[in-house]
Amino acid sequence: MSARKILVTNALPYANGAIHLGHLVGYIQADIWVRFQKMRGHTVHYVCGDDTHGTPIMINAEKQGMTPEAFIAKMYDEHVADFAGFHIGFDEFYTTNSPENKELASSIYRRLKADGKIAVKTISQLYDPQKQMFLPDRFVKGECPKCAAKDQYGDNCEVCGATYAPTELKNPFSAVSGATPELRQSEHYFFKLSECGDFLADWTRQPGRLQKEAANKMGEWFEAGLQDWDISRDAPYFGFEIPDAPGKYFYVWLDAPIGYIAATKHLFDRIGEDLEAYWAEGSDAELYHFIGKDILYFHALFWPAVLKYSGHRTPTAINVNGFLTVNGEKMSKSRGTFITAKSYLDVGLNPEWLRYYYAAKLGSGIEDADLSLGDFVARVNSDLVGKYINIASRAAGFIQKRFDGKLAATLPDSPLVAKLQAAATDLAAGFEGREFSRVLREVMALTDEVNQYVDQVKPWELAKQEGRDAELHGACSLLINLFRLLTIYIKPVLPKLAADVETFLNVAPLQWADAGTLLLGHAIKPYSHLMTRIDPKQVDALVEANKQSLAPAAAAAGPQIEAIAPTINIDDFGKIDLRVAKIIDCKHVEGAEKLLQLTLDLGDHTRNVFSGIKSAYKPEDLVGRLTVMVANLAPRKMKFGLSEGMVLAASGSEPGLYLLSPDSGAQPGMRIS
Ligand code: MSP
Ligand code: ZN
Repeated sequence: MSARKILVTNALPYANGAIHLGHLVGYIQADIWVRFQKMRGHTVHYVCGDDTHGTPIMINAEKQGMTPEAFIAKMYDEHVADFAGFHIGFDEFYTTNSPENKELASSIYRRLKADGKIAVKTISQLYDPQKQMFLPDRFVKGECPKCAAKDQYGDNCEVCGATYAPTELKNPFSAVSGATPELRQSEHYFFKLSECGDFLADWTRQPGRLQKEAANKMGEWFEAGLQDWDISRDAPYFGFEIPDAPGKYFYVWLDAPIGYIAATKHLFDRIGEDLEAYWAEGSDAELYHFIGKDILYFHALFWPAVLKYSGHRTPTAINVNGFLTVNGEKMSKSRGTFITAKSYLDVGLNPEWLRYYYAAKLGSGIEDADLSLGDFVARVNSDLVGKYINIASRAAGFIQKRFDGKLAATLPDSPLVAKLQAAATDLAAGFEGREFSRVLREVMALTDEVNQYVDQVKPWELAKQEGRDAELHGACSLLINLFRLLTIYIKPVLPKLAADVETFLNVAPLQWADAGTLLLGHAIKPYSHLMTRIDPKQVDALVEANKQSLAPAAAAAGPQIEAIAPTINIDDFGKIDLRVAKIIDCKHVEGAEKLLQLTLDLGDHTRNVFSGIKSAYKPEDLVGRLTVMVANLAPRKMKFGLSEGMVLAASGSEPGLYLLSPDSGAQPGMRIS
């Protein structure tokens, strides 16, 4: 097997907030893959860094009375500590706000321009006259043009799910200053993505580039047509100024992926490796980007095209992970399931427990992964402590006390040795293909077999009997060897534990190829316990900690009581036909993050209504309930079907949604007035 040259990147976390358990899915996944490749003897460089530019960081820094530079420096230290805490072994964790990245962004832009791929167009955008800045969509708020819900963002309505342009909002205001925005014109620079269709269609079709689901998504985007991409923003903006365009800055998503190259350069300058060999067109190195599913568009469309037309190589593959849910639901600050990496470590939970659990859940696809907290405790305790560690703890003491810490020179005949050694090939294929859940299932099946052997030979009984020392020595030596083989296979997932096992076994860091050898007549070190069980109380404490950490944050956001709407007369009110409705069916809506589909009984007929209440209710909890609906709202065609009305729910500045219900006795169809 000849050594491969592999460069792996993880999405650059945005330097505007803490790392949370959702983020960690992709970082742990990539780290496991990298550790496996390194154990195989390949040359692997694993780079990442903070994504530091853009309006949200600029505004947030200002709110905290800091310069953006000081703000991102603080975030940087936090992110580095969080990743180290979870044993994410980046070879380089850099920042996009670096001289290397500035230089690279400029030179890439110049090459795109020379290639005719940059256009200048005048656009109209909402402008905050008080703050004197153009407002990104997320910084304009107002009433939804479709359902009139208040306090909605400029790009989509969280209540009805509609998407629209910020200029369509009713009574818009700047989320930065509260001022009423005005429409202003400005020149923007565009990357001509519209001219990259043929290249991208071909690039996408290459085998192994994208997972099936991601390739399908690409198909949808091609069908919708590729639009030129706006890569500039006007001052004030925290980022890099565009060459020869004073007052114009690169949009954060232009320089963010270039940060991958900058991080590689920073690493390679230090270790004396050749950047061109990995990034120039014609490179024979492999390049993998690990990202979450929400940023596929940037990585599979813009990025390969930017690379291609600036004379770089394109990625070998883009590996997309799904989103994390906790206890079956989107992470929620009010439920305490929006869990920060730091809080997990602070309550004393072992990071390898989470690595193991994630790995046991992760396949090669992009479906969402659920962290079920009860299952987490049960699974880790049973698999890792009850099965895997159990093998070593059953055998180690006897080797130490009875045989002077030395393993037997020969092992008793057992089919298990051959079986575990033979598994190496298949398990390697599993790691290579990111089929971690399958790998761990197989490793645990082998672990079960080893435990059956433990129960058969009962070392603790042998130890009590006269004249059976040789048998005891053989059995325990065999067990230590089987434990060593299992450790090799699990090492990419549990690097710290594996290092402790290496110390205990008194061996050099285990490589994959070591599965072909055995430890005979070898002196090991005294055993000390390798891993404890999770106490469910620690998990309760974790959820509590994340609930509490939220309260001050919500308070800091300031009073958010909405003003009462302008006065209306009784005729205005009479236009709204409110009815009691009975929820007779309720389902999840595939592809909709916030919606539930309700079938409502109105006494003499039923209605189909989509409602943005998924974050607060489980479908099965709603069926049979009475609620209140607006029955004469014009039907609205949504991506998922026709919505024939609206159910009423209360919400405030704190998270949480509360569906209305009438007092008992009300009947479906009754009018509310
Ligand atoms: N800064 C961009 C990436 C730029 S790459 C050139 C970004 N940052 S992020 O902080 O929002 O997200 C970092 C990574 O975490 C992304 O891959 C994102 O998809 C992933 N995740 C964020 N929340 C997640 C979950 N809840 N679950 C799984 N992955 C999640 O995007
Ligand atoms: Zn709406």
